[in-house]
Amino acid sequence: MKKIIITIDGYSSCGKSTLAKALAAELNYVFIDSGAMYRAITLYFLRNHVDWNIREEVLKALKNISLEFIYNYITGISEIHLNDENVEWLIRDMVVAENVSEVAAVKEVREFAVAQQQKMGGEKGIVMDGRDIGTTVFPDAELKIFLTADPAVRVERRFKEMFTKNPNITIDEVKTNLEMRDFIDSNREFSPLRKAEDAVVIDNSNLTLKEQFKLAMKLVKEKTEVRELNHN
Ligand code: DC
Repeated sequence: MKKIIITIDGYSSCGKSTLAKALAAELNYVFIDSGAMYRAITLYFLRNHVDWNIREEVLKALKNISLEFIYNYITGISEIHLNDENVEWLIRDMVVAENVSEVAAVKEVREFAVAQQQKMGGEKGIVMDGRDIGTTVFPDAELKIFLTADPAVRVERRFKEMFTKNPNITIDEVKTNLEMRDFIDSNREFSPLRKAEDAVVIDNSNLTLKEQFKLAMKLVKEKTEVRELNHN
């Protein structure tokens, strides 16, 4: 089967990474969580007191940032390393979540991350999830999925995920953070969150993981067949 590029975009906590991971495992593709890159950059900025509203500070800091995804055979995912430190779990902290949308709205940060993401897709056989993957990073991707879910469902899912790490967290805190991130991500000047015109929408509010996976695999099959026909 010819390898393709699959993009999955959508609002926060729609289950994009869950679907991307499952597809990558089934197809033997590389899975890249582009949000992890923005989160790792945010972590670096917070730790080093970088003011992301000052362009020179951002440019200087970006020169000192090296990001790498390294596959972990135990967890089964490609974990993000920031300057050789595995920060896959640290970047899920609330303090990062509270600042990441602002950092991801900075033009220089986006240019830095997008250039690396495009390089990773050079060989095809990749599933990348994020906000602008189908619109900006891989506008020519063979399969673009735009995942959505009811806001209440998304809040509940994220709450459950955060609660295991931090039992003091409240549902209101999670809701406020999701609403804020969705607003900033959709309204920023540079590559805001948008559905690509040729993206297929999947609303998974009432779908089980298995149903969602089957639906997505059907799309993969269709797109892979189209690609094969075009190459014969
Ligand atoms: O997918 P996530 O929640 O881990 O993403 C964290 C933040 O990064 C999110 O609020 C928006 C930003 N992001 C982005 O702007 N573009 C992407 N391709 C991926 C994430």
